[in-house]
Amino acid sequence: MPKILYESQEKYLKSLRKEPDELLKEMEKFADEKKIPILDWKAAEFLEQLIIINSPKRVLEIGTAIAYSSIRIARVLKKGAVLDTIEKSKHNIPLAEKFIGRAGLQSKINILKGDALKIIPELNENYDFIFLDADKQDYENLFLFSLMVLKKGGVIFVDNLLWHGYTAAKTVPDTFKRSASIIREFNLSFLSNGSIDASIYPVGDGIGIGIKK
Ligand SMILES: C[S@@+](CC[C@H](N)C(=O)[O-])C[C@H]1O[C@@H](n2cnc3c(N)ncnc32)[C@H](O)[C@@H]1O
Repeated sequence: MPKILYESQEKYLKSLRKEPDELLKEMEKFADEKKIPILDWKAAEFLEQLIIINSPKRVLEIGTAIAYSSIRIARVLKKGAVLDTIEKSKHNIPLAEKFIGRAGLQSKINILKGDALKIIPELNENYDFIFLDADKQDYENLFLFSLMVLKKGGVIFVDNLLWHGYTAAKTVPDTFKRSASIIREFNLSFLSNGSIDASIYPVGDGIGIGIKK
């Protein structure tokens, strides 16, 4: 697998990492063992810092999984702010509910159960911050739907835009060919969309940040 950071830099940053608390450590271990993809820890710290800087009142997350990133977002939200998070997997929803309960964050996090492609067009809310982390083949539509519910000046944060290094790789194994090509196309669309100012950063698995004009 190609690397986004040199191995030595990855190791160095890990050696400096502030220990996460027991719940986050348990969730990282659980996700790793069960092969449930969650946000890379560096990207999670980047996301938390942006949430702190932006002070959003209402955040939308698309792709809850076990609620690892939901908990990290909700913990740094200001008093009264809320996170709506969308998840369609019947397997992941109860896991997310269990971890949110253990984190004591039920009053800050609402799980919207179902397919985001159906849920977002029916939302009556507008959001200050949106985190997109769902199936890659849905990214383009979910991105366009997200822009409809993102406030002016709001931020969209998109994960996996360097796709394990494969979006920039000359040779891509067969199993990653389709997904790498979908993300490459998405990146062009993301960076050229006229309603946001967008950039892609080599943090974690590649983070796109767009600010709505
Ligand atoms: C990468 S995981 C999310 C990880 C989570 N954001 C974290 O960092 O802890 C992607 C999740 O999105 C869900 N998902 C994918 N496409 C979706 C869609 N169209 N609507 C709702 N959920 C979706 C999957 O079931 C999966 O649980």
